[in-house]
Order: sequence, then C-alpha cells, then structure tokens
Amino acid sequence: MRTDFPIAAFNNIETPFYYYDMGLLRETLATALREAAKYDNFHIHYAVKANFNPMILAAMREQGIGADCVSGGEVKAAIAAGIPAEKIVFAGVGKTDREIADALDAGIFCFNIESVPELQAIEALAAERGKVAQVAIRVNPNVAAHTHANITTGLAENKFGINYEQLDEVIDCIEGCEHLTLIGLHFHIGSQILVMDDFVELCSRVNELQKQLREKRGIVLPHINVGGGLGIRYDEPDECAVPDFAAYFAVYAENLKLEKGQTLHFELGRSLVGQCGSLITRVTYVKRGTCKQFAIVDAGMNDLVRPAMYGAYHKIENLSSCDACEKYDVVGPICESSDVFCKDVELPHCKRGDILAIRSAGAYGEAMAFGYNCRALPKAYLSDSIG
Ligand code: LLP
Repeated sequence: MRTDFPIAAFNNIETPFYYYDMGLLRETLATALREAAKYDNFHIHYAVKANFNPMILAAMREQGIGADCVSGGEVKAAIAAGIPAEKIVFAGVGKTDREIADALDAGIFCFNIESVPELQAIEALAAERGKVAQVAIRVNPNVAAHTHANITTGLAENKFGINYEQLDEVIDCIEGCEHLTLIGLHFHIGSQILVMDDFVELCSRVNELQKQLREKRGIVLPHINVGGGLGIRYDEPDECAVPDFAAYFAVYAENLKLEKGQTLHFELGRSLVGQCGSLITRVTYVKRGTCKQFAIVDAGMNDLVRPAMYGAYHKIENLSSCDACEKYDVVGPICESSDVFCKDVELPHCKRGDILAIRSAGAYGEAMAFGYNCRALPKAYLSDSIG
C-alpha cells in the first residue's frame, strides 16, 4: 500500500507538520490484530510512547487495543482516549508516588515493576487505598538485540528490569506484601529489531525461567508479556508499509512454551504506527557550499530528533519536483551541527518552496518533538480530514 500525498492540500498548510495516513494505520492495525487472533491467547497493547497523538490513540481504542504506558501522563492520555483501564499496563523504572496513586485510583490492569523499592512504594499506596495491585516483574533477560545501542534495553548493564540473581528476593518480597498480587513476568529486549532470531533468543530465556520458577518454587503465573521491539523498514516505506506481523507472532507461537491457561501480551509501538506518519516540510533555501549542496528545510531536529539522536535513516522525497536528481544534505534551521536529516541524498532538483516528505516518522517523531530555539511544536493532520 502506497501513501498518496494530497499535495494540493499541503500547499495551503503551514509547514512543518506531521501527516498521518489513516488508511495505512487502519490496515496495519487490522493486519496485526488478524495475525494475533490466529492464536487465541495473544493480546496486543499499544506502546503509547511511540505516538500519543489523541487521534492515533482513538484509532487504537476503536480497534479494542490496550495500552502500554511509561508515565502517569501516558496513563491519563490512554484513559482520555477511552482505552479501558483494565487494558492498561504501566512500566518504567521511576514511577513516582503521584503516578502510582493515580494509576491505582484508575484501576489499571498491571504495574510492571522494576525494583524492590518500587514495589514497596506500590504496596504502601495500595494499602492506603485498601486496594490490591496486580504486578508483573520486569525481568532483564540479558539478550543483546541487533539494534542501535541507545535502544537496547534487555542487557544486564541497562537500568531496566530485575536481574536473574535478584528474582527470588523480589518474589519473596511480593509474597510478603498483602496489597500486591504477582500475576506475570514482563520482558523487553529493545526496539527496531528486524532479526527474528533475537526474539527466538528471548523465547528461550522465558522458557528457561518459567521452568525454573515451576520446578524451584511451584510458580506458574497467568500472564507473560514479551514487550515490543518489532522493527520497520525505513528504507522501504511503501514496499514494506505493513510489517510482517505473521512472521513475528509465528516466532512466539513456535518458540515460546506457554503453560496451560497463560496469556501472552505484546507491547507494540513502532510497528503499529511508524509507517503511517511523515514529517512534511518546505525547502526554505538551497545553499551551495564549496563541496556540498544544502537543502535547508523548515523542519528541524526539534520536530524529528531520530536522525540527530540515533543516526537514524528516514527516506526523504521531494513531492514538488520530478526533475533530474541532484545530491543534497537535507538540514534544518537549528543552531546545532547535528541538525541534519540526511546527508548526500539524491533528490529531484530542489528549489525554494518545494515540499519534502520525511517518511516513516509515525513512531517516536511527534512524540519526541521539543521546543529548542523557541520553536513551536509541530502540528499534525490526518488523511481523513485533508486527504
Ligand atoms: N515496551 C517497553 C517496555 C519499551 O521500553 C518499549 C520501547 C516498547 C514496549 C515499544 O517498543 P517498539 O515496539 O516501539 O519497538 N525513541 C527510540 C525508541 C525507544 C523505544 C523505547 N522503548 C527511537 O526513536 O527509535
């Protein structure tokens, strides 16, 4: 499925802005849900951090998808979008008392806990309210995912989760808490993972751990949550618009040994929303340097930080020109040398006023925008309203 950009409409909108192809979003969600439904115990939660635009959250709610949140603000955004509290999981190493209290009051499904002091805080706040909080232990599986160092999370050196050696202590602690019920195990190895073997490795860690818990402590928990991480093809936003969910879920169906009655939860972010979004920007100037030609655009690293922060590649297209290609460094207006979207990219001849689309920006694009240099946060438009 190709994103067809409504160029005539774009000409009348102030740039930069995010554009979401809602047809593609719906097709992506439908495909993910259809493939997950082949296994009757697979549940999808949307990782709100990828994009918390209310219209995107509304699309999740319409499809009955739950939410994976990492802050009190995300829990509130999910609930405001109508996602039922009983479909919300809440992770994060630094949940504050305020965030925990609000989540308890909202009645969320589960806290994914990441340390002993955190579970003590949840116990105390649940006790004050006369409630029992459901918790899952986020286990650090020590799997080295093939992805950018800044977005691996499942290594022993990362701040996330509880290491194997501390598991017994944490379980003892939960068992001693009257206001906590242990309902599951949670894992997440990283993001933008395209090597399916990484997920196979996670499955074998989960299997080993489940075996140990059953044999040593007689524990079988009803919920296993394997996090998110499925990557998208930034190099092929149209040809690979919908990720291969069939292959992804099959990895788990084939490799994860679920115990009887166990439910498997996924926290998908990027794979659900990444390809439906583009950052639309205008060429402000074309500047010739001594050895380079720059297309200076009106979007900056504050609108889409991924290239500057992770060296990430986003395909760029000139929607206004079909001329012969030339080489450009596409750069923003921010006072930072790292404010570069792509170097040496071949684009149809660019001129002042041309509209460029920076593709595959639906995940961790608008959500990570910031106001450096007193810049306004980017607006967003949906294909439903301007297409
Ligand atoms: N679950 C947990 C516990 C996570 O930490 C994450 C992402 C997800 C689920 C969703 O992962 P996904 O399916 O989107 O890969 N800003 C970075 C990505 C950071 C990912 C953080 N955690 C980027 O722009 O690439």
